[in-house]
Amino acid sequence: MKTGMRGLLPQSIWIALSIILLARFVFGQIAITDAQPPIPKPDALAQPRSPGQAGFPVNQTRAAIPPDNPQTPEKVALGEKLFFDGRLSADGTVACASCHNPDLAFTDRRPTSVGIRGRVGHRNAPTLLNVLFNQAEFWDGRAPTLEEQASLSITNSVEMGQPSMDAAVASIAAIDDYKKAFHRVFGRPPSGPNLLRAIAAYERTLYSFNAPFDHFLAGDKNAISDSAKRGWALFNGQASCNRCHAITIDQPNFVNFTDNDFHDTGIGIVRYKVVPLARRAEQLVDSGDKGAIDRAAIQTDMSSLGRFLITRQEIDIASFKTPGLRNVLVTAPYFHDGSQETLWDVMDHYNKGGGPHDPFIDEAIQPLALREQDIDDLVAFLASLTSPEYAEQGAKELERQRALSKISRPLRDTVRAFGPKPSIPPMSSP
Ligand code: HEC
Ligand code: HEC
Repeated sequence: MKTGMRGLLPQSIWIALSIILLARFVFGQIAITDAQPPIPKPDALAQPRSPGQAGFPVNQTRAAIPPDNPQTPEKVALGEKLFFDGRLSADGTVACASCHNPDLAFTDRRPTSVGIRGRVGHRNAPTLLNVLFNQAEFWDGRAPTLEEQASLSITNSVEMGQPSMDAAVASIAAIDDYKKAFHRVFGRPPSGPNLLRAIAAYERTLYSFNAPFDHFLAGDKNAISDSAKRGWALFNGQASCNRCHAITIDQPNFVNFTDNDFHDTGIGIVRYKVVPLARRAEQLVDSGDKGAIDRAAIQTDMSSLGRFLITRQEIDIASFKTPGLRNVLVTAPYFHDGSQETLWDVMDHYNKGGGPHDPFIDEAIQPLALREQDIDDLVAFLASLTSPEYAEQGAKELERQRALSKISRPLRDTVRAFGPKPSIPPMSSP
């Protein structure tokens, strides 16, 4: 009996090991989870927004519509239908809305996204609210337009998994509703470019303003708390957030609080040795193969290289797009890798300034000497950028994050926050 047990055990371990090895061989560095989220339904929060909102930027909105893809209500409705349709994915289980759920402010509220067959990527899904104002798409800006962005999601093997856009079109082209809708909107049968135009047109309706901060700017001095007002002053002063989350340091960007540029703020570099990764990535970047670069960004450790994967410039190693800050309270977790759970953690990261081992860090990342009250004020300011449709969710989320911050502040480093700026090693010694 005993010997039989002993004989069995190694065999089962052997089988388990072979399965793990085989999985690693087939899927490379992709983690698998069985938590495949169901596709959400288009509810009230999914509907195109009204421009009648405080802070709505009329001119920028007009400028964000490309001449070759004008907005029409029929096209937007077709785009919305496609956005929620799992049939666009290789096995019918994943839609755009799986990772950009309107009820979760068009994110998935996961650190990194889960796509087809439970495959987990390396990047956090950004909100699509106000996405029309982006000057480039993705954390590294690798897609210039929403149209091009959508084709990469559809064909990425850990997202919607289609072998090609033609395959995606084929999966919906025979459906009567779609045949009619494409004819009505474009005067012809479904095609890849028109499918992408419709999805992008829908995304361009997702503007979200009317936040308490917009009412404050419009003259209602009581629209935000005193704490949020102090936070706004810190944002443009001691905390110097406006070095990146503004058009220029003297010119705020009230549309989406970004300079539309890329910076290394010291996130990915914590976990990865980026220089050897960059050497490995060079050939790939030179190949200019957009599909392969997309896979590297989403499915491999090279994700941490950020903008380098697009430009191959040393200075862009570990640089990521400055994200907009509207509705940031309801789009946790934070950063391109979803590594931080609360806005307090984000503030602790900035407060301690650059890490001593990051030669690529942006010079604007400095110890900030923010006190606890200052951090609370900055969080209050960020919370005031929540649009009314997410106000209730935002209030709950603020309490959740506040409670968590009372028991867990993994990045808090008061000595560094109040110390001198760490010396930055030269580029060649990572
Ligand atoms: C499996 C989850 C998943 C699916 C499905 C998915 N996305 Fe995303 N989306 C992401 C992630 C993760 C990113 C960030 C990737 C990166 O930056 O490299 C992203 C980025 C984006 C961006 C860029 C936003 C920005 O601020 O830069 C847009 C736009 C977008 N997705 C739209 C779509 C559309 C449209 C679809 C359907 C055709 C779709 N996504 C399907 C997870 C997903
Ligand atoms: C050097 C430019 C720079 C400065 C200064 C800066 N940021 Fe950022 N911010 C970025 C970039 C780039 C990211 C994305 C980094 C990443 O994901 O790797 C980011 C991310 C964030 C995020 C996470 C957003 C999300 O959706 O995940 C928040 C919140 C934020 N910044 C707020 C602030 C505040 C508040 C300050 C001032 C204390 C500040 N930032 C200072 C460039 C900057």
